[in-house]
Amino acid sequence: MKIIGSYPKIRLRRLRKSKWLRNIVSENDISNKDLILPIFVREGKNKIENIKSMPGIKRYTVDKLPSILKQVKALKIPMIALFPLTPNNKKDNIGSEALNPNNLICRSLKLVKKKFPNIGVMCDVALDPYTSHGHDGIFIKNKIDNDETIKILIKQALLQAKMGCDVIAPSDMMDGRVGAIRKALDKENFLDVCILSYAVKYASTYYGPFRDAVGSKSKLKGDKKTYQMDYRNSFEIFREVGLDLKEGADMVMVKPGMFYLDIINKIKNNFNIPVLAYQVSGEYSLIKNGIQNKILKEESIIESLLSFKRAGACAVITYFAIDVAKMIKTN
Ligand code: PBG
Repeated sequence: MKIIGSYPKIRLRRLRKSKWLRNIVSENDISNKDLILPIFVREGKNKIENIKSMPGIKRYTVDKLPSILKQVKALKIPMIALFPLTPNNKKDNIGSEALNPNNLICRSLKLVKKKFPNIGVMCDVALDPYTSHGHDGIFIKNKIDNDETIKILIKQALLQAKMGCDVIAPSDMMDGRVGAIRKALDKENFLDVCILSYAVKYASTYYGPFRDAVGSKSKLKGDKKTYQMDYRNSFEIFREVGLDLKEGADMVMVKPGMFYLDIINKIKNNFNIPVLAYQVSGEYSLIKNGIQNKILKEESIIESLLSFKRAGACAVITYFAIDVAKMIKTN
């Protein structure tokens, strides 16, 4: 790129001299319309509890969901993502509870769609909140079996669609699952149910607090490196995203977010599709701890979200969604 002009005729500080002018020339912004809020649900009644590993984030019993959904509605946050804390006695080695039409996710979906029909809902398709070993798939001969896992994931996705889920988000990283789920959805006439594929999901250490929140952390045997991606790689994203699009994904996600901005940017520049970023639990807790300890200012949240927009993301899944929407409102 050619640099036109030079100092002293050109003074770049001229465009930074006041807030209104900085607003006029700004290239990116974050809006409440770009936010997706993850919400954790648990069994029981009349309880809202803190999650130790994620300061400020809570788990809700289904009857208490309206308290947070009211805020989501008032702040015009377009979509939520639901995640369950499954009681230990409902976990088994094949994640059977995932297919229970009366499980936490199904009950939550019904409540949201009945009482807050204009809030979009996305649901993970993966077995980790339901398995006794904490993995996203099932073990056969000591390995996570790709094709046998897909058979269960199809049923999980269909159940969620039946309960009113708007956006099915396969987060399991099995090969071929997007195509299998799309085919099953179409066959059952769920033609308008979207698929947001966790196309690029790295085997990250930054999921720790989330695993604690859904109760899979202490259960997890080994790691997820045989199915989630190796964080030393970037070029395999073209195969992951390309395949998922061919199989019928409507949107793709990059996860984690902040340490993977190069990946978001590469996808944005090479595919004409909506790319979403997931600012994961470890990223949230790092920033939140910094703010609570007064090492960071609250504005650091906005700065982190703008990095996603700059990189090319159209929306961000973030545990900060409520805080951000409030901050933008008062800005
Ligand atoms: C389940 C799933 C995970 C996250 C979202 N869906 C954890 C994992 O893959 O181990 C992580 C989200 C976060 O850390 O905020 N497959």
